[in-house]
Amino acid sequence: MSGVPVVVLVGPMGVGKSTVGGLMAERLGVGYRDTDDDIVAEQGRTISEIFVDDGEAAFRAMEKQAVRRALEEHDGVLALGGGAVLDAGTRALLAGQRVVYLSMDVEEAVKRTGLNAARPLLAVNPRKQWRELMEARRPLYEEVATVVVATDGRTPEEVTEAALDAL
Ligand code: S3P
Repeated sequence: MSGVPVVVLVGPMGVGKSTVGGLMAERLGVGYRDTDDDIVAEQGRTISEIFVDDGEAAFRAMEKQAVRRALEEHDGVLALGGGAVLDAGTRALLAGQRVVYLSMDVEEAVKRTGLNAARPLLAVNPRKQWRELMEARRPLYEEVATVVVATDGRTPEEVTEAALDAL
């Protein structure tokens, strides 16, 4: 496929980008793509392995390339990794796209992700790390977003409805 994504989803890890993205794609009758999956497929390594072996900066560079390629190739729903907005070049790629920011507050984040060891950025003291992460990233999500959809206390189906309504 080639063209412009119908919608790009951003937001913190665990907010439900894949679940909501899949449901949105189904409802819209389009494909779903996730840049984390693209990177894992291309590298033949898990995201955690890439972080440990190559470091975060190298991962962000791979992520920027993955976002660039997906924006060129995909015309469905596209979900980005939670930290993709940290890179100014990646943020610039999102200019002119329809971008939905799925937001959640810190307590919701702690509740949803718990002690998920598969997420390298939350290895110790999840609540403190979530607070810092949200403070640093919230303005960046807001910068790229054309729509913000709060997910706190909502089911994936309710979030999907709200996101579709907002498009
Ligand atoms: C990250 C979020 C992850 C993944 C990587 C880094 C982050 O994606 O890209 O572990 O920095 O928040 P999800 O948001 O899909 O979990």
